Amino acid sequence: MQISRPAPGIGALAPRAHLATDAPQQSLAGSWRFRLSPTLHEAPDEWRDDDTAAWDEIQVPGHWVLQGHGAPAYSNVQMPFPVDPPHPPQANPIGDHILDFVADESLLAAAEQLIRFDGIESAGEIWLNGEWLGSTRGSRLAHEFDVTGILRAGENRLAVRVAQFSDATYLENQDMWWLPGIFRDVTLLARPEGGIRDVFATGDFDPATGTGSLALVVDAAAEWSVEIPELGIDSTGSLEGLAVEPWTAETPRLYDVVVRTPSESVSLRIGFRRVEVKNTEILVNGSPILLRGVNRHEHHPEKGRVYDAEWVRAELELMKRHNINAVRTSHYPPHPETLALFDELGFWVIDECDYESHEFVMVDWRGNPSADPAWRDALMDRIQRTVHRDKNHASVIMWSMGNEAGVGQNIDAMLLWTKQFDPSRLTHYEGDWSCGIADVYSRMYASHDEVAQIGREGLEPAAAGLDAAHARRLTLPFIQCEFVHAMGTGPGGMQEYWDLFEQYPRLAGGFVWEWVEQGIAVTGDDGVRRIMIGGDFGEKVHDGNFVIDGLVSPDREPRPGLIHYAATIAQVQIRVDASRATATIENRFDHVDLAGVTLVAERIVDGESVARVGLDTPQVAPRHAAEIALPAELSDPRESAVADVVTVRALTAHDASWAEAGHEISSGQDVRVAAPPAPVPADGSVDVSTGSGELASVGGLAIAAGPAVGIWRAPTDNDWGRLHGEEDPTPYAERWRRGGYDRTVSRVVSSATEGASVRVHTRTGVPILDAAIDARMTWTPLEGGSVRLDLEIEPDGSWPVEWARLGIDFVIDAAPTGLDFVGDGPVSAYPDMRAAARFGWWSLAADEITVDSITPQESGARQGVIDATVGTEAGSLRIRALDAPFALTVSPHSRDELAAKTHNWELEADGKTHVSIDLLQSGVGTASCGPGTLPRYRVAARAIRTSLILEGIAG
Ligand code: GAL
Repeated sequence: MQISRPAPGIGALAPRAHLATDAPQQSLAGSWRFRLSPTLHEAPDEWRDDDTAAWDEIQVPGHWVLQGHGAPAYSNVQMPFPVDPPHPPQANPIGDHILDFVADESLLAAAEQLIRFDGIESAGEIWLNGEWLGSTRGSRLAHEFDVTGILRAGENRLAVRVAQFSDATYLENQDMWWLPGIFRDVTLLARPEGGIRDVFATGDFDPATGTGSLALVVDAAAEWSVEIPELGIDSTGSLEGLAVEPWTAETPRLYDVVVRTPSESVSLRIGFRRVEVKNTEILVNGSPILLRGVNRHEHHPEKGRVYDAEWVRAELELMKRHNINAVRTSHYPPHPETLALFDELGFWVIDECDYESHEFVMVDWRGNPSADPAWRDALMDRIQRTVHRDKNHASVIMWSMGNEAGVGQNIDAMLLWTKQFDPSRLTHYEGDWSCGIADVYSRMYASHDEVAQIGREGLEPAAAGLDAAHARRLTLPFIQCEFVHAMGTGPGGMQEYWDLFEQYPRLAGGFVWEWVEQGIAVTGDDGVRRIMIGGDFGEKVHDGNFVIDGLVSPDREPRPGLIHYAATIAQVQIRVDASRATATIENRFDHVDLAGVTLVAERIVDGESVARVGLDTPQVAPRHAAEIALPAELSDPRESAVADVVTVRALTAHDASWAEAGHEISSGQDVRVAAPPAPVPADGSVDVSTGSGELASVGGLAIAAGPAVGIWRAPTDNDWGRLHGEEDPTPYAERWRRGGYDRTVSRVVSSATEGASVRVHTRTGVPILDAAIDARMTWTPLEGGSVRLDLEIEPDGSWPVEWARLGIDFVIDAAPTGLDFVGDGPVSAYPDMRAAARFGWWSLAADEITVDSITPQESGARQGVIDATVGTEAGSLRIRALDAPFALTVSPHSRDELAAKTHNWELEADGKTHVSIDLLQSGVGTASCGPGTLPRYRVAARAIRTSLILEGIAG
């Protein structure tokens, strides 16, 4: 087996589209025989005629490492073996696959037969009935081989030897698990005499005339004709000036097209749309578009990258329900059926070539395949296989050359070939910022300031004397193919990016990194299913939990980041002004008016719904807004109310495959919160220990510890991120640790009784240094056994590093059972990630209070809380704000426990409820990859005061 050649596979037929045909096919999916050898050297030379009775069984499509042979491995930029191209390491598992099968009669009856492999990682050598068919390269690319005269009646033996690593591995270092195997379909295809080899169908829509046209390039061995039944085209008729509805991601209108020869029919679903760049904008059908995108790896927690049709449809529908309208297929073409789903559901797609050579950055790009002529054929083969396979899909608006592969003549050649072959789409390659050839300027993780600058450049005349390349770049639209990193608690700062994308026409949107957390589920002997990350399979080189950075969990549960992203990018934005009795409805769709949207309004006063009305949806053109009047019952004043909230919701008006009518797109609110009536002090006493200054109990509920001043949080993945581009790049998690913020020490300075009140002064410091925080607490008994806490906090000395938060922490000696609160929810939020949080009266079950992050870390804060009841097994603690709202975090785990553990399944609950009432909180940012918390969301030391009522209800 030759696996050290910087070259394409051998023997495959020229690439073509993945076509739906009526010619017979036979799937070879199923149970195959399998034998693994640790190295090529140890894999037998003569094996293809072996008796396989003693071999193992394996499911194809499948990855052998997920079927009990060897183990998965995760690394990102770094290679798991020396960078020694084009050689794989000696320790290179070899998987021999054998299938004995009988070919269908219908196949054998055809003039010719092919066999198609849709994906083999990383290199396959294929034999049928002892004849060598050839080899594959490009794990996510289709290869077809001619088996005419080799396929026979009766028993056939297909033998496929797969190398886990090969020369191709240097081109496929795509920040995902190394998952070898025949992981996509294997299919026998009949090729009738006079059949259709290939079709390239380009549906165009001319916004000036409102008509469409279909350009067809058909490679057929006989006279062919085309039918478009809906348009009355039946083998005759012009394919121009067609009265069609255009395709957009918002209106995914497809037409059935049949291309026919006497012996074969090929069915296509065609969308008519025109993609172009004008005045730094990406236009589709003449209108600018904004990409509300995600980067999508193919990933299933049990099956890896094996396609599961229902699962993939469900995940794309989940995207639609969260207002996502664009997908970058990072960093390879997905299973071909995924493209059909993109067309049908409506997504703008950047289809990316199966190419990344990021490992070469570790050696200053020495030997990088993008720049080495020796690899040119391999790379040209990859882009051609990508484009040919998917060229008939309306959703694909850009071809991407790959990801993080440096620069060089081979990339240029790929771009040039693509532009010439398919001028109907744009080309993309992020790795070359000079943008000499690509049609868009694309970057990843550029800061807010830089993105604003790029947006402004689009509005200003180019300065004189710029070199030609730079001048060209200024004419291009800008996208962030990756722009916030959904790792752990976060990402913060999405809204601030989005405001820029909305503001500057040149900025055509971005793609969150990434859609799904690529954790692998393993069920242990104890029956417990655990999510594994890099290193959990014993890898010597790995990147730990950097593979867990998605908007949804491996099981597709939305993380708070997705909920906030959906609100940020929502195509309908609503602002309510109850005092003026108006709502502003902004249509942020790019192509449709609001006919597909219904509006409902509700007014809730102190938790009681007092009015619920439907509103007439204004007819607003795309990218325009209208103000509507609200009926009086939504806005008449109610003086006595504490919280008076008017919420207007935009709902879908019609059923869609991805959501029934009535699905919420977005909402807007006007919230009027008045100070609650001042509580009346009562006779009685407060159970505050004048020794420790702690609240021993309240209303019969025992408090195990607290209040203690807290300035630290269990570091999030983003807190561990280096702050590139900042004067001090040290991660905050590290600075807090060095500063001792995680080990504060308190003492009581004084405590005194004043009538029924107790006044306690505590001083909290950090080890080693002399900075301190003075807290003055006055506890006053109230009617019914509750207590009032007046709290004044003042920092003393030097606090050069911002705090994670400033709050008071309590511990209740019983596990949490739930949380009811009045404030912004129900989703957890932080100051720079709160777009989706809505004021309301919310009730959370115990398992909804925090986020079950695969890597334990701070999570679950609720913002803007004015009233909360923390339920525990021993009773509940009610906390009410007397002046400013607070942020509330309740957890079954201490911060020390969260910080100490590296997997969620290692966490041990201590049977206690940990409650933090924060007066200040730092944002979360996206520093795990990208900018840190924006300065305005950091918490510099400062004095603050607040007043609260605490009420305990035992039992
Ligand atoms: C980008 C890369 C992605 C991913 C991300 C961090 O540089 O394109 O593949 O690695 O960083 O998770």
